[in-house]
Amino acid sequence: MVSTLVIIPTYNERESLPHQVDGVREQAAEVDILVVDDASPDGTGEWADARAARDPQVHVLHRMGKQGLGAAYRAGFAWGLERGYDVLVEMDADGSHRAEDLARVLDAPGEWDLAIGSRWVPGGAVENWPAHRRLLSIGANTYVRWMLAIPVRDATAGFRAYRASALRGLEMEAVESQGYCFQVDMAWRVLSNGGTVVEVPIVFVEREHGTSKMSGEIIREALVKVTAWGMKERAAQVRRAFSRRR
Ligand code: GDD
Ligand code: MN
Repeated sequence: MVSTLVIIPTYNERESLPHQVDGVREQAAEVDILVVDDASPDGTGEWADARAARDPQVHVLHRMGKQGLGAAYRAGFAWGLERGYDVLVEMDADGSHRAEDLARVLDAPGEWDLAIGSRWVPGGAVENWPAHRRLLSIGANTYVRWMLAIPVRDATAGFRAYRASALRGLEMEAVESQGYCFQVDMAWRVLSNGGTVVEVPIVFVEREHGTSKMSGEIIREALVKVTAWGMKERAAQVRRAFSRRR
């Protein structure tokens, strides 16, 4: 039996998290959950503790303060790898990643190291997103595909499953991304490491409660990092081309 851990990072998700945890427990009873809370002032962490106290399949990792999505997932992965899970899943707390799509991601076809629940493949969709968020996501993904030359339609997606072996093969300490570019960073690392990435369509539904933590700083970090990675990659290609000629 494959053991699976769903990691849910939270910052001020008190209103949304209960529904997300219940949904995952109902749709995938065998799966364990780890909530990684960054000391949310709204009591999300306390709620998660209470839920964990009455459900042995729910766990909580408390962190000191808001340190970004990337840092939360790095801590969550370390927790899950230490405990020997075979598959580690990323899911948002706010209902955007529907529990009913989890099985589809986990059952993605073929031998994959990373299975992405994608909004931008045929059958994928986004519901209730304002035009500016839609544009940002399409623009970011187009830039990533062009800059990094990777065949992924939704590299910023936050609904995905990693094979533990693929995570073990990466140097997680070297991953510096703080914000949402962590997602791009990880997809790129899995591919660079020779891993297989597949995308399956999901429907992303915009949250009904709470607010997005997307910010100008998160966009800036993504733009700067993706550009730097792309330039480094191009330089390496040029060097390889020259050394072949000699
Ligand atoms: N622990 C922790 N620390 N959790 C965080 C932090 C943080 O600093 N920042 C965000 N989160 C959690 C939120 O509480 C939520 O559960 C999840 O990460 C996603 O955050 P949202 O703020 O809801 O993201 P979004 O809906 O704007 O963005 C979605 O699209 C992005 C772009 O495609 C997400 O799916 C992102 O993962 C995705 O990169
Ligand atoms: Mn969201």
